[in-house]
Amino acid sequence: MNPSIETLREEASKKIAAASALEELEQLRIDYLGKKGSVPALMQSLKDLPNEEKPLFGKSVNELKGEISSLLSDKKDELSASVLNEKLQDEKLDITLPGSRYLLGKKHPINKVMDEAIEIFKGLGFSLEEGPEIESEYYNFEALNIPDNHPARDMQDTLYLPTGSLLRTHTSPVQIRVMEKQKPPFSFIAAGKVYRHDADVTHSPMFHQIEGFLVDQKTTFADLKGILETFLNQLFHKKISTRFRPSFFPFTEPSAEVDISCVMCDAKGCRVCQNTGWLEILGCGMVHPEVLKSVNLDSEEWQGFAFGVGIERITMLKYGIADIRLFFENDARFLNQF
Ligand code: DAH
Repeated sequence: MNPSIETLREEASKKIAAASALEELEQLRIDYLGKKGSVPALMQSLKDLPNEEKPLFGKSVNELKGEISSLLSDKKDELSASVLNEKLQDEKLDITLPGSRYLLGKKHPINKVMDEAIEIFKGLGFSLEEGPEIESEYYNFEALNIPDNHPARDMQDTLYLPTGSLLRTHTSPVQIRVMEKQKPPFSFIAAGKVYRHDADVTHSPMFHQIEGFLVDQKTTFADLKGILETFLNQLFHKKISTRFRPSFFPFTEPSAEVDISCVMCDAKGCRVCQNTGWLEILGCGMVHPEVLKSVNLDSEEWQGFAFGVGIERITMLKYGIADIRLFFENDARFLNQF
């Protein structure tokens, strides 16, 4: 055996065995097997040997090359495995530690009741319509038979914008907007935010209403009663008695306010119903001929009913909430209860 081959073999196997990092191992590969490495250098020296020695020398160098390659590759596997182990050790997860909690949002009680009410009306054949929250005096008042200087404008505590527009005080303007765009018969609801300059335990400057509207060729007050009673029974999940009291709204004639049997005390009499057994819950009536006239509909041919429900009010009754301000304070302890 050629002494230089033997020396190289011993030296390489010692150094490879001693390598402790992948970078160090790569340097050894370059030193021994790289283009300018010791093994190719040995191969170069082949040409200076006598012819008869060449085959054996060449074979031995090739064997050496194979041995070093396999030592390198084994060592590489070994080092890679220990790098991986270290990494696993470092990044070990302690699955017994408590995890990080995800805080899940919940639907706001107002939206919950609103969605429920919308679903009930959809089931009764009403479509859902929308209108803008910034309205003109025309849609909010005039077209609804509330002319300029009419005392009924006072009841609405209107918030005006510097432009002369206003924040809609009720969802009723959607009646006009839909009738302008579509052809009768109509049966739709409009749900959304309304605004008034008013705030105390039962009033908020922004609140929600659902407007109902049905106009057809033969519609009576009995239809209105039937729809409202069905709605209330489904919403409160129990049989609700109603009481229709004569009232006044400029956009309906006749007009009524609807009381329901007190859901807090089952009409026995309590603080909420002020011991009357009744709770006022919505306004309604038969659509005023003037309202139909504002969209050029002949009131001899078309009649119908309309109603407006305050969502905060029914949500307070449904869940026994005493102060409307709780809805808008965003206290998670309150909101998480629903
Ligand atoms: N717009 C009325 C209000 O906000 C509620 C109302 C009453 C709506 C009677 C109606 C109705 O459609 O017929 O006070």
